[in-house]
Formats: sequence, structure tokens, C-alpha cells
Amino acid sequence: MIIAVTGTPGVGKTTVSKLLARKLGYEYVSLRDYVMERGIGEMKGDELEVEVDELAYNFERDFAGKNVVADGHLSHFLKADLVVVLRAHPKLVGERLKGRGYSKEKIGENVEAELVDVILVEALEENENVIEVDTTGKTPEKVVDEIIGLIQKGVKRRVGIVDWSEVYDEVIPYLRL
Ligand SMILES: Nc1ncnc2c1ncn2[C@@H]1O[C@H](COP(=O)(O)OP(=O)(O)OP(=O)(O)O)[C@@H](O)[C@H]1O
Ligand SMILES: [Mg+2]
Repeated sequence: MIIAVTGTPGVGKTTVSKLLARKLGYEYVSLRDYVMERGIGEMKGDELEVEVDELAYNFERDFAGKNVVADGHLSHFLKADLVVVLRAHPKLVGERLKGRGYSKEKIGENVEAELVDVILVEALEENENVIEVDTTGKTPEKVVDEIIGLIQKGVKRRVGIVDWSEVYDEVIPYLRL
């Protein structure tokens, strides 16, 4: 089974994906590394530009039929059996990206994306089997246990569990208004 773990930058994809892969005994694949190794992406300034169709095509050829956890904010474009969209309070996303030294512009862009469900909406356009998991206030272990619990119960779709418009006031300082 191919599990794609996606979400806004800083939401916790890499942390959760590695732990999830370890607990399930699946192979962990960082799409960033994969894209670099395969020469699928192109560096444009400090950003890696990826042709998603080319990524999906290559990934399918290399991993179809294997047990893989694919980590990356483009993973929902893969032909996956399950897409896990990680969510986090936009303020948490903002603080994490600030801690990484991202520019105000970049922080604002990503906080806004989390606020208005950009990745979730994209994922729903690409795949039927989408489960959303709110990581806010949870440890990575708890998040992984929640994902495994849903898989074991056969849950293939669970969306609409967060509404960041409720915390909009707390998010304003991070926005590019
Ligand atoms: N419940 C949680 N799930 C995942 N990460 C968490 C959680 N709680 C705290 N964290 C922390 O949040 C940070 C998330 O960073 P991580 O690199 O995993 O995010 P990412 O989504 O892979 O980012 P990027 O898109 O830039 O690759 C880590 O420092 C991790 O320890
Ligand atoms: Mg990551």
C-alpha cells in the first residue's frame, strides 16, 4: 500500500512519516530526495520546482505494489492508496517556520495556505481516499497511532475535522495583509 503524507510546510510530515513507516514496517520515501536523485525537479533560485505529472509517473514506475510512506507536500499528486493530510493550528505552522528562519513573506504564504485548507482541497481533487489528522497539541506518536487506528478500522475518508477560521484572530499577526 502507498500512503502519501501531505500538508503545509512545517506541519510535521517528515516527523510523522518516518515514525509511521517504522511502525508499519514500510519503506520511507522523502519526495524531496527522490526528486533530486531522479533529476525530476529543477532548482529555481532557492525553490525546487517539480513537474507533478513527471513525479507521479516516475513514482508509480518505481514503487507500484510496494509498501511505502511517501513524505512531501506534493505527495497527494501520487497514485496513492491513502492520502493523509496533516493539519496544525496555523499559528503553530507560523512559529515553526519562524524558528527555521523563513522570511516573513514565506511564513505568511504558508500560514495562509494552512488557514484556508489549500493542500486539503488539492488532495480532495486528486484522490477519494483522504484522511485529515489534526496534529495540534499531540505528540508525533499520538498522531501516528491515530493514523494506524484509522487504517485498521478501514476508514478511507475522513475530512472536515478542522476549521481554522475559528482561530482567525490568533493568526492575523502572521498574515500578509
Ligand atoms: N504531533 C506532531 N506531529 C509532527 N511533528 C510535530 C508534532 N508535534 C511537534 N512536532 C514538531 O514539528 C516539527 C515538524 O517538522 P517537520 O520537518 O516534520 O515538518 P514537515 O511538514 O516535514 O516540513 P517540510 O514541509 O518543510 O518538510 C518537528 O520539529 C517536530 O518535532
Ligand atoms: Mg519535511
